[in-house]
Amino acid sequence: MSALRVAVLVSGTGSLLRAILEGQDRYEVVLVLSDRPGVEALERAERAGVPGVVVDWTGFGTQRRADFSAEVGRAIAERRAGLVCQAGFMRILAQEYFDAHGVPVMNSHPALLPAFSGAHGVRDALAYGAKVTGATIHFATLDVDHGPVIAQEAVEVRPDDSEEALHERIKAVEQRLYVEAIRLFAQGRLKVEGGRVHVLPAG
Ligand code: GRF
Repeated sequence: MSALRVAVLVSGTGSLLRAILEGQDRYEVVLVLSDRPGVEALERAERAGVPGVVVDWTGFGTQRRADFSAEVGRAIAERRAGLVCQAGFMRILAQEYFDAHGVPVMNSHPALLPAFSGAHGVRDALAYGAKVTGATIHFATLDVDHGPVIAQEAVEVRPDDSEEALHERIKAVEQRLYVEAIRLFAQGRLKVEGGRVHVLPAG
C-alpha cells in the first residue's frame, strides 16, 4: 500500500512541521503550504526536499476568506493529499477550503479543548491560573477548535512558568501526539462515530 500523502499547513516557525517530517513512517509529506512568505517552516520544507507553496493571505480582495480558502484547498488537491495537517497554521478557513480538497483535516491546539480555545490558548491558561493544561490533536471542521478529539495529554503548569516555557513543554507533547495520530490515520485505525474518535486495534 502506497504511503499516505500528507499536506501540512504552516504560518511560522514550523516546530510541529519538523516533528511531522522527522516522523514520516507510513506517510509522506507532499506539500507544505504557508499563508505568508519567508517563514522558517518554508525553509524546513526546502531542506527536506518537500514542495513549499505560499498562498498569501494579503493577496486577496473583498471576498478574502472565501477566495483564500478555495485557493488553499485547490493547492492541496493538486498534490493529491489524503490528509491535511494544520501545524501552527493561524488562519481561519471557510467552507470553500474543505470543499476544494475533500479530505480529512487534523489540527493541533496547545490546550485541552474545549478549554482555552482560540489563538492564545497557552497565554489564556496561564492567565486563568490553571494548574494543568495540555495539548489536543483533533479533526478540524468549519467550527474552529471544535472537531472530534483524536488525542490529548495534560501538561502541568508550574508556578514560575512564562508563556514561552509552558508553550515549549506543550509543543513537545503536541509533536509526539501529532506524529502518532497521523500514523494511526495512515493505518486506517481512526474511526469517527457520533463526534467521537475511536482508535481501532492494530492488525
Ligand atoms: C503549536 O503550539 C501550535 O499548536 C500553535 O503554534 C505552535 C507551533 O507553531 N498553533 P510552529 O509549528 O512552531 O509554527
